[in-house]
Amino acid sequence: MANNNQSVHGIWRNRWIFILAATGSAVGLGNIWKFPYITGEHGGGAFVLMYLACIALVGVPIMVAEVAMGRRGRQSPINTMSSLISEAKAGPAWKAIGWMGALAGFLILSFYSVIAGWALSYVLKMATGTFVGADQDLAGGQFGDMLADPSGLMLWHTVFMVLTAGVIMRGVNKGIESAIQILMPLLFVLLIVLIGYAAKNGDFSKAVHFMFDADFSKLTAESVLVALGHAFFTLSLGMGAIMAYGAYMPRQASIGTTVFAIAGLDTLVALLAGLAIFPIVFANGLEPSAGPGLLFVSLPIAFGNMAGGQFFGALFFILVSFAAWSSAISLIEPATAWAIERFKTTRTKATIAIASIIWVLGIGTVLSFNDWSEFHLLPGKTIFDSLDFITANIMLPLGGLLIALFVGFGMKYHHVYNEMQVKNAVFFNIWYVLLRFVTPIAIGIVFISGLLPECSLMDESLLNAETGECSNPTYMQPRVIGGVILAIAYIAIVVKSLKKPARGLSS
Ligand code: PFF
Repeated sequence: MANNNQSVHGIWRNRWIFILAATGSAVGLGNIWKFPYITGEHGGGAFVLMYLACIALVGVPIMVAEVAMGRRGRQSPINTMSSLISEAKAGPAWKAIGWMGALAGFLILSFYSVIAGWALSYVLKMATGTFVGADQDLAGGQFGDMLADPSGLMLWHTVFMVLTAGVIMRGVNKGIESAIQILMPLLFVLLIVLIGYAAKNGDFSKAVHFMFDADFSKLTAESVLVALGHAFFTLSLGMGAIMAYGAYMPRQASIGTTVFAIAGLDTLVALLAGLAIFPIVFANGLEPSAGPGLLFVSLPIAFGNMAGGQFFGALFFILVSFAAWSSAISLIEPATAWAIERFKTTRTKATIAIASIIWVLGIGTVLSFNDWSEFHLLPGKTIFDSLDFITANIMLPLGGLLIALFVGFGMKYHHVYNEMQVKNAVFFNIWYVLLRFVTPIAIGIVFISGLLPECSLMDESLLNAETGECSNPTYMQPRVIGGVILAIAYIAIVVKSLKKPARGLSS
């Protein structure tokens, strides 16, 4: 089967390049824009702890599984799934992992590119002194004006898509590898400079308390779902991006230690981004729960009122743009690699076709901030909010769940064992148990409990159609019951399947 040592698309020059590329995929708007504002919206410390638990118990095991699948298949995620399925003699329904992943990539990049466009336009605004001496009115007004102007948003969305396509077109080695080697070191240097600024000029201790003092009464089922969804989003899991990059990984590199490095760096950047942003927010008496505008309203005020802020502010949004860029290329690579394999076409043509479709989809997000802001795809959610919710909180965890089940139960044990280049069987066994039992149950419970309605379906009068919230907080929550039933059903299925003869190493 495809268990060869080469991919038609190329191979990373060494293990470090893979770490850099996967970290580039993981570190993005999720860390610098989304993590701070969702932490703000969900009350701080307790949310951060949930997020860290999700990274450790769910994210890391799934990332290991995705890299192993990619390297074994050596093709685009869709074709890798076909190879792995025939190797394991598993059912064709597992192909859903590849297809759903590609679809998630289209949808995510369609809104990701619009937000990255905001960051690009803020580099210019900052550098030209728009925010010098800014107050809340000026910064809020600038942000509002930008959102109200569809043609401006389209322009920056287009620029970002062209930048992304430009890298992907040049291929794995000349394109992705070269870009990543410049972008990633720069990104780390910029982040450290900005933390130095926040520590000197911001309210650092308030930020530390906000991020690390845990008040569990603030956690709701939805917060836990958001923490899980974000763990997937930030590590680029559940949609094949990491599987696609894994396909270009050198055969002899150990997957376990590599993944620890990537997840560790990604988590570090998210926490450091919080420590760069919240001190500034608090020092200016602003609210951490400002939502998606946190980065684009609160920070410009702070930068606008400091010596050298024009320069550092521009630097900050360059950082955000670089981070977004290195992630976007991994969002588009799985579908591009598939199109090259499927249609035997050139990388340039495949990139243009895929990027154009995503560009068109992005129009929905652009309009959701202005002309179509009243149009709701999901209750109370604009097109942008709905795409964000459906991809991060449904498609990625579902993709991750299927990946865990496929590697844990679908693939042959000895194939998985061999692919992992195991040096320490204890670590392998811990991972295998986590992947088969802990990860699926954790995703299942969080997933079902977060998605089920808070109110009884029998009594819709208690449900607020706009917000989806239950007006009677003491009402018995079907979410909890749903989660428990799912966990019991899963354990029963697993126990039953374990009674079958074990798959030996020689099979
Ligand atoms: N991990 C990226 C971020 O945190 O911004 C977003 C992302 C990239 C999600 C690639 C999914 C993906 F496949």
